[in-house]
Amino acid sequence: MSAYKRHLITAALPYANGPIHLGHLAGAYLPSDIYVRYLRLKGKDVLFVCGSDEHGAAITIKAKKEGITPQEVVDRYDAIIRKSFADFGIDFDIYHRTSSELHHETASNYFLELLEKDAFTVQESEQYFDAEANQFLADRYITGTCPKCGNENAYGDQCESCGSALSPTDLIDPKSTLSGSQPILKTTKHWYLPMQNHEQWLKEWINQGTLDGKQHHNPKEWKNHVVGQCNSWIDGGLQPRAMTRDLDWGVRVPVEGAEGKVLYVWLDAPIGYISATKQWAIDNGKNWEDYWKDEETRLVHFIGKDNIVFHCIIFPILLKAHGEFILPENVPANEFLNLEGQKLSTSRNWAVWLHEYLEEYPDRIDALRYCITSILPENKDSEFTWADFQARNNNELVAILGNFVNRAVVLTHKYFEGKVPTSDFDHSVLDEVKTHYGKVSENLDKFNFRQALSEAMNVARIGNKYLADNEPWKTIKTDETAAKKVIATSLVIAEHLKNVIAPFLPNTSAKLAQMLNVPQASWNTENTIASGHQLNPAQLLFTKFEDEEVEKQVNKLKEAAAAAKPIELEPAKPETTFDVFQKLDIRIATILEAEKVAKTKKLLKLKVDTGMDERTVVSGIAEFYSPEEIIGKQVCLLANLAPRDIKGITSQGMILMAESPDGKLSFTLPESTVPNGTSVS
Ligand code: MF3
Ligand code: ZN
Repeated sequence: MSAYKRHLITAALPYANGPIHLGHLAGAYLPSDIYVRYLRLKGKDVLFVCGSDEHGAAITIKAKKEGITPQEVVDRYDAIIRKSFADFGIDFDIYHRTSSELHHETASNYFLELLEKDAFTVQESEQYFDAEANQFLADRYITGTCPKCGNENAYGDQCESCGSALSPTDLIDPKSTLSGSQPILKTTKHWYLPMQNHEQWLKEWINQGTLDGKQHHNPKEWKNHVVGQCNSWIDGGLQPRAMTRDLDWGVRVPVEGAEGKVLYVWLDAPIGYISATKQWAIDNGKNWEDYWKDEETRLVHFIGKDNIVFHCIIFPILLKAHGEFILPENVPANEFLNLEGQKLSTSRNWAVWLHEYLEEYPDRIDALRYCITSILPENKDSEFTWADFQARNNNELVAILGNFVNRAVVLTHKYFEGKVPTSDFDHSVLDEVKTHYGKVSENLDKFNFRQALSEAMNVARIGNKYLADNEPWKTIKTDETAAKKVIATSLVIAEHLKNVIAPFLPNTSAKLAQMLNVPQASWNTENTIASGHQLNPAQLLFTKFEDEEVEKQVNKLKEAAAAAKPIELEPAKPETTFDVFQKLDIRIATILEAEKVAKTKKLLKLKVDTGMDERTVVSGIAEFYSPEEIIGKQVCLLANLAPRDIKGITSQGMILMAESPDGKLSFTLPESTVPNGTSVS
């Protein structure tokens, strides 16, 4: 790694069809941000790019569902995503958009350059077409049963249940999501990437790390699950893959005879990394090609595991086929983060949304960074729970990190007016502390973020133990020299702590620098704390997360998920005739009196004015309305229902009510006041 002149770090471009949730953070954004902060601390030349992925069927489907244009969808979510990343402190050098003109031009030219290099084959084929909607169906517009696992809701390109990559024609019982109808096959022309021609070099590149006969990277540094997924793809036999689609949202295929076609989103989106780099270079007077076409640049893609094949197989083929571009040196994909025992899901609204978290807890940014980093799904799926968040916040951040810093600074103010006491330092403990720069580095270099964070926290643990073992608050009365040494040394430990936590907890590190009145973090084992150095007042770094908050968040999750559940409607009744309808005498009536029917929970005895008479009606709404609140209200009454005996009361008619699927009843109140006896038809 050290041989490289510069680093280009990418984080998967999120689809602009929904906000960012904790799963996204754990997959790509938090690890990449930590990694970039670390490289910058070490003084490396780093460029960190990201942006919104604004094309593809994920966007058009959302637009259709909400009855707005795709542009409106991406504008809305690009703004939300952009703001939440900025507020959370994901420190991109640029956050770009694939709907930008520069991106369209870049992707379009890239396609033309590949055409010139004969990278594609053109084929006519039969594709699913929705005859009702009169349009070809993109993969995502087709659902059906997964041939591998039997999941009935697999998409045309992927089964989200078992992770298999699919083609629409693999699906059993395909359905169009546009009309629900069964799609038909129709001929269309597309540009294909003959992936099968690339198997040999891909295998060597992934397994031996060699490229064009040279060592490209160390294959042992790639994660097992990443290499495993790639090999299972390659061993399954690569197929030609269409790089164009019949869709009207995306980058137009810049070729005559390709009207109504756009670039495949997985060709277009990764080129977004390139166009983002271009925009950054324009804005900063740099040369984008240094970052993409120089072998001394190290390219690293941070992604979630569902993006592996696109970043390790398809995009590398596109880069290599072009000829001038470098390939990724590593793709440290993470697995999935689950939430409170279930898979995260946007559609089921089972998620903690970043923008909502930031609104509720603007002062707990580092606490979330800490908790997620501690549980990153680096090599297997992991789980976020609010109880675990609370435990890590209270038992680690408050009790260890915050407590150590607070004690060191408060004691300095209490005994020495906030000045570092004149003393020599305890070098044995400081030497031990300094080994942690190496321990954190080693782990970050291997993308072991969890272990790296725990090594950084060990500096606070050492500090805490050092204070507890030496009790300067006691020795101050018996051996002042000893107390001074312990406090001075603790402050130096705190200064190192500020450095080693900086990639993970940047806000805490900055606060700590301010409190200690020392420069912001650097990866430097020299300390600036010296005898007589003046500290600033102590402030609390972390506060407890209470039980009520845990409960509130868990309830919020459950409520949001319940609200997102599609309601189950009663089955439709068979057709009836107008004659039957006309036999019903439905009229407006006013409730004159209301009282509970004794010994029942549900029944109210009502006296209503029908315009024709005053009569008694028994109605089963006592659980939803109190007698007082309905007196004087107008309701619809089925006036010619034969009288029925209910609990010894003769009910003369029935009040019409709406019954929701969860059994709640409400009156269907007319909007305006009309004379009693008015017919409803
Ligand atoms: N939008 C994709 C997703 O969220 C990721 C695109 S990454 C890129 O899964 F390489 F295509 F940009
Ligand atoms: Zn499946």
